Amino acid sequence: MLYFSATYTTKKVIKSIAKGFYDDVKEYDITLPKNRINSLNFKENDVVIIGVPVYAGRVPEFLSEYFSEKIHGNNAYAVLIVVYGNRAYDDALLELKDIFEGRGFIGIAGGAFIGEHSYTEKIATGRPDDSDLNIAYKFGMDINEKINSIDRFPQKLTVKGNYPYRKGMVYEPVMIDTDESCINCGICSMHCPMGAIDKYDNKSIDIFKCIRCCSCIKRCPVNAKDINYDPHKKFLIEFISKYSTVRQEPELFSVFTYSISD
Ligand SMILES: Cc1cc2nc3c(=O)[nH]c(=O)nc-3n(C[C@H](O)[C@H](O)[C@H](O)COP(=O)(O)O)c2cc1C
Repeated sequence: MLYFSATYTTKKVIKSIAKGFYDDVKEYDITLPKNRINSLNFKENDVVIIGVPVYAGRVPEFLSEYFSEKIHGNNAYAVLIVVYGNRAYDDALLELKDIFEGRGFIGIAGGAFIGEHSYTEKIATGRPDDSDLNIAYKFGMDINEKINSIDRFPQKLTVKGNYPYRKGMVYEPVMIDTDESCINCGICSMHCPMGAIDKYDNKSIDIFKCIRCCSCIKRCPVNAKDINYDPHKKFLIEFISKYSTVRQEPELFSVFTYSISD
């Protein structure tokens, strides 16, 4: 399995799918910058479960650059997963499939799961929940069984999404604020996926590196971090009222016939 997961939701989904494979699965967690340095070469008949969060309806841009430079499929099979915060995944799954097929993988299955929104615990609270993780586990089990029982796939993988892809995110630098309660414990800087937080002074953040993944905000043991920028606060109030009451469900795609109730 190969995943990026700033606030753990993608990781939980990918681990549950991998559990369905029974065998020991190798884990490549590319969340930290030090784990995105080396190239990764897979080989024919490998099955790679790939997971990314959805940012603005797309694969996060820095990840698509990393995948295009450092990942080599060599005809390995790919299970492509996106995790989104209950709004929509737009074209992210299609984009992820295109990136990996372009890198020499054979897409055999895909899925869109829901994770608690990075910006607030009020949207998709606690997800993925037991029901999501059970669906993920059974999906993994099903792929594992079917991949071993046939030697040629009946069709090419198709997933939901449109061309041209949704316009991606424009990263206006926004400050993550740190208040006086900060105890400089180092947890935020240790886990920052972009290496944007100074390890000696945890209040100091490079806003040009920050991608607003909210890892630091969600992990802070004393709740010292937040985005206090007014337009963001206003956006969040509307956003919560729109997306906290509906419940999206996982969607699965595969070259095999599969249904959630199987
Ligand atoms: C910058 C940014 C953009 C996001 N854009 C979307 C989006 O377009 N649609 C959506 O439903 N959720 C969106 N989210 C929410 C995340 O996709 C979601 O919370 C996901 O579960 C985070 O994965 P992680 O816990 O593995 O980091 C966004 C989050 C961030 C930080």
